[in-house]
Amino acid sequence: MSQPLLSKEEYDAFRHFLEESCGIVLGDNKHYLVTSRLNRLTEEFSFDSLSKMLEALRQNKNQVLRERIIDAMTTNETSWFRDIYPFEILKKDLLPELAAQKPNPLRIWSAASSYGQEAFSIAIAIKEFQQNRPGVWNGNTDILGTDISPTVIRIARDAKYDELSLGRGLSAERRQRYFTDNGDGGWTVKPEIRNMARFSEMNLLKSFSNLGKFDLIFCRNVLIYFSSPIKTDILNRMTQVLKPGGYLFLGGSESPTGYSQAYEMCRFPDGVVYRLKENWKA
Ligand SMILES: C[S@@+](CC[C@H](N)C(=O)[O-])C[C@H]1O[C@@H](n2cnc3c(N)ncnc32)[C@H](O)[C@@H]1O
Repeated sequence: MSQPLLSKEEYDAFRHFLEESCGIVLGDNKHYLVTSRLNRLTEEFSFDSLSKMLEALRQNKNQVLRERIIDAMTTNETSWFRDIYPFEILKKDLLPELAAQKPNPLRIWSAASSYGQEAFSIAIAIKEFQQNRPGVWNGNTDILGTDISPTVIRIARDAKYDELSLGRGLSAERRQRYFTDNGDGGWTVKPEIRNMARFSEMNLLKSFSNLGKFDLIFCRNVLIYFSSPIKTDILNRMTQVLKPGGYLFLGGSESPTGYSQAYEMCRFPDGVVYRLKENWKA
C-alpha cells in the first residue's frame, strides 16, 4: 500500500524538530526521502499514520521513538583511514611533535565516530608509530569516539566488522595484523587496538564540559549537515576542550573559515589541518 507524503506543514515541523534536536538541516528536496524513512518507523512503532507518529514526537513522551527517528535521519557513511591524508599527517607530523611534548595520556576525540572506523584507524596509526618509538605512550592513550546514534555506538563497542566494511580502506596486511577472523564472515578488532578506544553517545549540540582536554580532535564529515550558526557554535565550543596549539581535523570539504577565528590553517606535505591558536581565550 502506498503511503501518503507528509504535508508541507508536517514536513516543515519535522525539519524544525530535526534541526533543534541534532543540528541537521534538511533541504526542500528531501521530502520523499524523509517520508519513506519515517513511514518505516510508523509501521515499526505501530502508529496508525505518520501524522500520529509526528504528534507523539511533538509531545516528546517516547524517548525510544525520538532516538530511532534521529538514527533514521543521520548519514553514517564512513571507512577505514578515510581520505588517507589525515592518518599520514598524524603518523608523520603530529605524533612526533606530540611525542616530544609528552602529554600523558595522549587524548584524542573522534567527535562523530559513526561505526568506529575513524577511532580504530587512529589507534592503528598510533600503534604503527609506536613500532619505531617503543615506550612512547605505552598503554597511555585515550581515544574517545562519540556519536549521536545509539546504534552506531553499539556497533563500535562490539568492534566486529563484515567483509563489506573491511573492504573499504583497510589493507589485507592491516586486517591480518590487527583483526581476528571470527570464522563467520566477521572480523573483530584485536584487544591491543580495541582497548585504546572507548565509545559513548553524545550530541554535538550539547555541552562538552565533562570531556576534559584533548591533544587532537577529529570532527570529520559531520559539520556539512549543519547550519552556519551551529557550525560556528560547535567550532567555538571545541576550543574549550582542545589544548592550546592542539589540532583539529575536519572533512575534506569542511573548514573553520567564515565560522570561527580560533584556528589557523597548517599545511603539511599530505594535506591541511587546523590548529587552535596558542593565545586564543576560550
Ligand atoms: C558521515 S558520518 C562521519 C563519520 C566519520 N567522522 C568519518 O568521517 O568517516 C557522520 C556521523 O555524524 C553523526 N552525527 C550527526 N549529527 C550529530 C550530532 N548532532 N552529534 C553527534 N553526532 C552526530 C551521525 O550519526 C554519523 O554517524
